[in-house]
Amino acid sequence: MDDDGNHGIHSLHLIARGAEASVYVGILEGKKVVLKRRERKRYRERSFDDYIRKRRTRQETRAMEKAASYVNTPKVVASHTYDIVMEYIDGERPNKSEETAMLIGKLLKKIHKSGVIHNDFTLANVLIKRDGAPYVIDFGLAFQSTRLEDRASDLYTSAASMGELANVVVKGYSDKEVEERYNNIRQRMRYVKE
Ligand SMILES: Nc1ncnc2c1ncn2[C@@H]1O[C@H](COP(=O)(O)OP(=O)(O)O)[C@@H](O)[C@H]1O
Ligand SMILES: [Mg+2]
Repeated sequence: MDDDGNHGIHSLHLIARGAEASVYVGILEGKKVVLKRRERKRYRERSFDDYIRKRRTRQETRAMEKAASYVNTPKVVASHTYDIVMEYIDGERPNKSEETAMLIGKLLKKIHKSGVIHNDFTLANVLIKRDGAPYVIDFGLAFQSTRLEDRASDLYTSAASMGELANVVVKGYSDKEVEERYNNIRQRMRYVKE
């Protein structure tokens, strides 16, 4: 690990490596934490890459904290230049079912109420704790907006990720105006695919 150092976290080990970030679990002051590090992209010019990663890290932290007033999200322990240290959530990814499709819709509506567009809200970004509490994770692509079009296309992404249960996600979201725009987006997408 270079760049930003380990921030006093020990016993770090990698649990996931995505396109943008590496996710580690470790111990900080006796507590289990997650370190999410935005990795360098070597094909980008260095100073531009640094700027992009810095901005994205800040945007992710802000979105997590903003959404936290409407849904459970991991608490941000510390935010560094390219790293976010957050609470470790001991939970499991839910299975695909009608119940979880409803849940996805309901959670997305709450995220939107906070003024945040998640932009990648699928089952892969939900963790359910043993007591049943759902946690929303991975605000890596999130941004702030209250625009109808942004909400509806966020719903489109979530619904599409649930395949044949897409309509259940929309039902869970339960908002006439957003649903109308969602249907409109679906029409547009169909046109693009043909
Ligand atoms: N706070 C957390 N607590 C527990 N596990 C987490 C936490 N954050 C991320 N993870 C795990 O790491 C994986 C990748 O993290 P995520 O933020 O979704 O990054 P990516 O952008 O690579 O998808 C998640 O699917 C989850 O399994
Ligand atoms: Mg993810």
